[in-house]
Amino acid sequence: MSENRLQRLIYSNCLRAWIQELECRYLRHLAGRSIRGGVALEVGCGAGYGVDAILEVFEARRVDAFDLDGELVERARTRLARRGEQVRLFRADCEAIDVPSESYDAVFDFAVVHHVLGWRRAIEQIFRVLKPGAVFCAVEVLDRFISNPVARRLLDHPSQDRFGHEDFRGALRDVGFKLLETRQIADSFGWYVAERPVAIGGSHAS
Ligand SMILES: C[S@@+](CC[C@H](N)C(=O)[O-])C[C@H]1O[C@@H](n2cnc3c(N)ncnc32)[C@H](O)[C@@H]1O
Repeated sequence: MSENRLQRLIYSNCLRAWIQELECRYLRHLAGRSIRGGVALEVGCGAGYGVDAILEVFEARRVDAFDLDGELVERARTRLARRGEQVRLFRADCEAIDVPSESYDAVFDFAVVHHVLGWRRAIEQIFRVLKPGAVFCAVEVLDRFISNPVARRLLDHPSQDRFGHEDFRGALRDVGFKLLETRQIADSFGWYVAERPVAIGGSHAS
């Protein structure tokens, strides 16, 4: 679902870049590892500040990143041109990620999946594109925040079937993720680090 002008402003400025680097540092702390030399995917990259943070904090060799909004993809492309071959940007939908299965060493979601109507489908897609043993790192906005009257008035979100912390944890487990670390803040924001287990003899190790 696309965002209104206020949301675009909140997520497209240098304060957002600074906050996103802090979010990325906390995710690395929770993950207990970098992906040095690996390739990452960022879903819903917006203006692309997360790409810089993933390259620097998680020591990725390359970051692929996409957004549903083509204008934001172009803004990110301009901002990140100096990164050359380290970054690949494209337009795509979280519900149908057009890349081969088992492509990435990590997938990052900074406040995107709660915008997706078919959010469970997005989680399935993220699981599919991760290599076995790779990690999904997410910072998410929970239903309690979205349903707050002030947020409802000012921000655009889908109103049906949003998720709380336990819903999101359950959906991650349902597609096969192993939860490594999860946290919630004030019932409103969630932090998730989950691993796609390595398959043993045709089934996934838990
Ligand atoms: C809250 S903003 C976060 C942007 C960026 N990740 C950040 O943290 O600054 C949500 C982003 O998700 C994108 N988005 C919404 N639905 C999407 C979908 N189905 N597939 C891909 N991106 C989507 C929006 O265009 C927007 O850029």
